[in-house]
Amino acid sequence: MNGMEENTISELRSVVMEKMSSVRGTAHSFEHVERVYEIATFLARNENADLELVQLGAILHDVGRAAGEPHNETGAELTREILKNINYHPEKVEGIAKIVLRHRQSLGQGLETLEEKIVWDADKIDLIGVTGILRAFHWAGSMKIPFEDEVRWCRERETAFYGLLKTETAKKIARMRHEAMIHFLNVLEKELSLSDLLID
Ligand SMILES: [Fe+2]
Ligand SMILES: [Fe+2]
Repeated sequence: MNGMEENTISELRSVVMEKMSSVRGTAHSFEHVERVYEIATFLARNENADLELVQLGAILHDVGRAAGEPHNETGAELTREILKNINYHPEKVEGIAKIVLRHRQSLGQGLETLEEKIVWDADKIDLIGVTGILRAFHWAGSMKIPFEDEVRWCRERETAFYGLLKTETAKKIARMRHEAMIHFLNVLEKELSLSDLLID
């Protein structure tokens, strides 16, 4: 990546951080975006993808969070606007807007390019593992969702993301997270049902 592109990334980082300041402290805050950016960068290098498209797509993928739902649609619109404002290569804008638009497909259907798959994978890796569980409970708390319901959600839906990952590198690096998640949920269920009080 040359100097100009590094400047583009840091410029975008400031713009996105500012736009997402109203969702600070939530499960979908800018810290999540930073983790997705790092995971996506790792995946792009290992999968020989277009690094620039992946990095810009990752930084911008949740920019619509503060603008309203569906945040993939508001985010794709904002992406076009932001990239135009910084005079980014016009011919590359649509590819990045599509990464943002498609990152929210719940089963990852309709993903066309490797770069779209990588940002989708990176976003889902942050939902798998102990981080994913903590994010889920953080969100559930803000929505006043009962504990037991959230455990069930994590067990049924969040663990399933592992099987939906699109790239080999993602499957490889998420394996430990997936195992940790199952273990964590097993322990949690034991504690919540108080079955750990049964001492023989
Ligand atoms: Fe999102
Ligand atoms: Fe995300």
